[in-house]
Amino acid sequence: MSLTETTTILITGATGAIGSALAKHYAKAGTHLILQGRNNVALGALAEGCKGQGAQVSTRAMDLRDIAALQQWLAVLGTDQQLPDLVIANAGMNINNGAANEGERWEAIDALLDLNIKSAFALVNALLPAMRQRGSGQIALVSSLAAFYGLPITPSYCASKAALKSYGEALRGWLADEGIKVNVIMPGYVKSAMCDGMPGPKPFLWSPEKAARYIAKGLEKNQARITFPFPLNFGTWWLAVLPAAFSQWILRLIGYHD
Ligand SMILES: NC(=O)c1ccc[n+]([C@@H]2O[C@H](COP(=O)([O-])OP(=O)(O)OC[C@H]3O[C@@H](n4cnc5c(N)ncnc54)[C@H](OP(=O)(O)O)[C@@H]3O)[C@@H](O)[C@H]2O)c1
Repeated sequence: MSLTETTTILITGATGAIGSALAKHYAKAGTHLILQGRNNVALGALAEGCKGQGAQVSTRAMDLRDIAALQQWLAVLGTDQQLPDLVIANAGMNINNGAANEGERWEAIDALLDLNIKSAFALVNALLPAMRQRGSGQIALVSSLAAFYGLPITPSYCASKAALKSYGEALRGWLADEGIKVNVIMPGYVKSAMCDGMPGPKPFLWSPEKAARYIAKGLEKNQARITFPFPLNFGTWWLAVLPAAFSQWILRLIGYHD
């Protein structure tokens, strides 16, 4: 998408590391940023910063797991005036098997599925009719390299990111002829609160700013999959391709088992 005209960009999880780096990356005159997070104070500070860079900014503090409230908000955004040109479904959370390898709690799984899958699907589902009617738009789903192969320490997270990957791939094929672009973003490790909270090694860690620049370039080129960094992308892709028993053996060998 060319950003030379007024462009409206909706970013969920804008108060987080990747989301705020994306917001700052896109913040400039001629851009209307619609930023969602939960933390009102962080959202306000981000909005001020982006306005300082010349962008017009709207904010929405809400918990995306409240799907009815999300749909109500999106019904307003779906009107021509505010309909985003680019939607980045970025909000997400991670859980793991726990320090004592006790396994994931159901309450945590439930919350993760609501946020990582259901809210992202609801976001797309609510905005798509207006985008299709307009005949243009771009939808970016933030998945993860963890979508390529289920990592034993984070079963539900990997499954949720695989769902987003699959959903995005299907939408891209479906909407290709309607002028609507769909991209799946698959980051490796990016420095953030969520990343810090994850167990296991974190090779090839990127800064959120570097990730945001790379993501924006991939979106500009309308890449189907925006994957990074290369070594981790290469490795996780092979995990999906190799016989499962061999992949399991590799994961155990490099410390991703428990
Ligand atoms: N960092 C990595 O290594 C990495 C790797 C692969 C994929 N990703 C994906 O990248 C995306 C961004 O992650 P990040 O690393 O930037 O994490 P982060 O800094 O922890 O940010 C997470 C964002 O999601 C929002 N959020 C969490 N729960 C929410 C809820 N119930 N309702 C609404 N918003 C909620 C947070 O809002 P509050 O600030 O208000 O809590 C925050 O803005 C996620 O989808 C993640 O899975 C990250």
